[in-house]
Amino acid sequence: MTTQLITNNLPVGSSTELDKVGVAQAPTGLPDLTTITQLANEFFSALPGLGNGQTSGLNLDIPNIAPPPHSPQPAENVTALSGRAPNIAFQKGLNPELPDHIPNLPDYPERRAIASAPIIGGANIPKPPFEPHAPRVAHPQPSIPVVAAKQPEASTDSPFYFLNDHTRTTSQQDYAISHHEADIAQSFHLPYGDDLTHLLKNDPSQTSAAKPQQSASGFYFLDDFHSNPPQAGNIPAHYHADKTQFTPSHQQPLDVFAIRKDFPILQERVNGRPLVWFDNAATTQKPQSVIDRIAYFYQHENSNIHRAAHELAARATDAYEHARNVVARFIGARSAKEIIFVRGTTEGINLIAKTWGEQNIGEGDEIIVSNLEHHANIVPWYQLAQKVGAKLRVIPVDDTGQIILEELPKLINERTKLVSVTQVSNALGTVTPIPEIINIAHARGVRVLVDAAQSVSHIPTNVQSIDADFLVFSGHKVFGPTGIGAVYAKPEILDNMPVWEGGGNMIQDVTFEHVIYQPAPNKFEAGTGNIADAVGLGAALEYVERIGIQNIATYEHALLEYGQNALASVSGLRLIGTALNKASVMSFTLEGYSTEQVGKALNEHGIAVRSGHHCAQPILRRFGVEQTVRPSLAFYNTTEEIDLLVAVLHQLRRKKHV
Ligand code: ALA
Repeated sequence: MTTQLITNNLPVGSSTELDKVGVAQAPTGLPDLTTITQLANEFFSALPGLGNGQTSGLNLDIPNIAPPPHSPQPAENVTALSGRAPNIAFQKGLNPELPDHIPNLPDYPERRAIASAPIIGGANIPKPPFEPHAPRVAHPQPSIPVVAAKQPEASTDSPFYFLNDHTRTTSQQDYAISHHEADIAQSFHLPYGDDLTHLLKNDPSQTSAAKPQQSASGFYFLDDFHSNPPQAGNIPAHYHADKTQFTPSHQQPLDVFAIRKDFPILQERVNGRPLVWFDNAATTQKPQSVIDRIAYFYQHENSNIHRAAHELAARATDAYEHARNVVARFIGARSAKEIIFVRGTTEGINLIAKTWGEQNIGEGDEIIVSNLEHHANIVPWYQLAQKVGAKLRVIPVDDTGQIILEELPKLINERTKLVSVTQVSNALGTVTPIPEIINIAHARGVRVLVDAAQSVSHIPTNVQSIDADFLVFSGHKVFGPTGIGAVYAKPEILDNMPVWEGGGNMIQDVTFEHVIYQPAPNKFEAGTGNIADAVGLGAALEYVERIGIQNIATYEHALLEYGQNALASVSGLRLIGTALNKASVMSFTLEGYSTEQVGKALNEHGIAVRSGHHCAQPILRRFGVEQTVRPSLAFYNTTEEIDLLVAVLHQLRRKKHV
């Protein structure tokens, strides 16, 4: 391929070295191209933190981002915090005798590198930092042509792209502007350039072993479900969990400073300070790969799905259904058909309450929730109970904020129809004993819904191994976009569950006398869904898979312990929620201050936390408070950020002592 940089409006001159890479000569009156080249290279070399030292020849490509100063982490088993904790800043931050001084965070080199990266198309878009990879769940017999994607580069020494990438040498073509979209397309395993042309021509000479089987219409999503049942390949593949190619390493530490480079927003400054994002329980930040994937969708694939015999409908449908496959794989479902896209956890629980709930729960029946629940797992059941005359019963929690498991069997009786419990409390961080809860409920014939909104981004999820009947989560809490989430339900439940909303996209046949719905999941997805964000959610889960959820869990566990120990050093600070098994959340109150005052003081230092009731009033009242300050961690947070948080809190307390 050639590097097409400045050919527009320029007459092509005689053959030169420049022509060989597609760069034409300048017309009369303008500086010649050698001069332009030289000036451009000098300009790029002068950019702070960017120069790659190459100033001659045709290095018009975007300069390489300087590698981070730390070397890749070793592959052997080391502590989860990669030897970064405890550190000296932490010890100083904890000492209330030290001068009233709040240290700023180190200005990470990668912050400068990304902030000063060349601007393309109005946004800072570094080359997607990961190696292209094949989708791990493919449609088995897709009815649209599939172009064999280029194989990823042979992996070097580490299974983690972020530990290898810094050492890659960058060729001219790697960063060429005209290749940027091709890079993105390839990184998503999507066709581009010649491949795309080939695909559009539907070239019959293509004889790949994976040569797709043609459906009647040429577009599998147009085919009738009855004449082309699912096993004929006209809807997304069954996913078999045992075929997953994803095997996280349990021995790799996270290189948190390399990971931070993937999240452009972490370079932001707030009140002149580097942003510290400790509001992950409210929403998580998005890696560049997710941002790129959504942009790519709108640039190359945007169409409604399942509805038209045209190329973009095929691309959009394929992207959407691929995302559904990724969700299925990520939570260990057997099939993508068990996954319904919804707006988020709240909509997901409402869907279940208003379909399965109304069908199966009647007057005098009982629904069990725990004292830990978010309002989203209380209100829909309260509404249902009000409507049909059912009762809500509540599993109590102990003084650490853990569910008292022994109380559950006492609450279950012959009228119990459902246990609906969170896997991680959004207000306290408690990890609940979900497998045990499911065992107890199933032994009495009771279905279980797992609210995984706060757990999917922190601990592994496998609906088959825990035997969940329902599981719901939101995309935006797991590094994906807002407005998209998923409901999982066992197939036998979905088959019998009545539809919720009615409209297009869920229909097989409509007359004025009768309506026939499509099978699940489509029958639950009336109207045009949030297609682009579903695709973005798929990219987010693939990003998490590349890092490894077990690696994330290990790192975050150590970070949480570090954080809780550090907070314990602040006088007048009461940690709310001290269960042995916790994830991410460190809720507290601080004597002498309202939670809002603490939140504002932290914001002055660039630290974002949520303060308030966190839409979980019953559990806060169980601890005698109406509100807490709630820092909540993700795998891109660092011990240095915790040091800063604790230092600000010490400062607040010192002010009360004077
Ligand atoms: N459920 C979200 C939280 O806990 C909004 O902040």
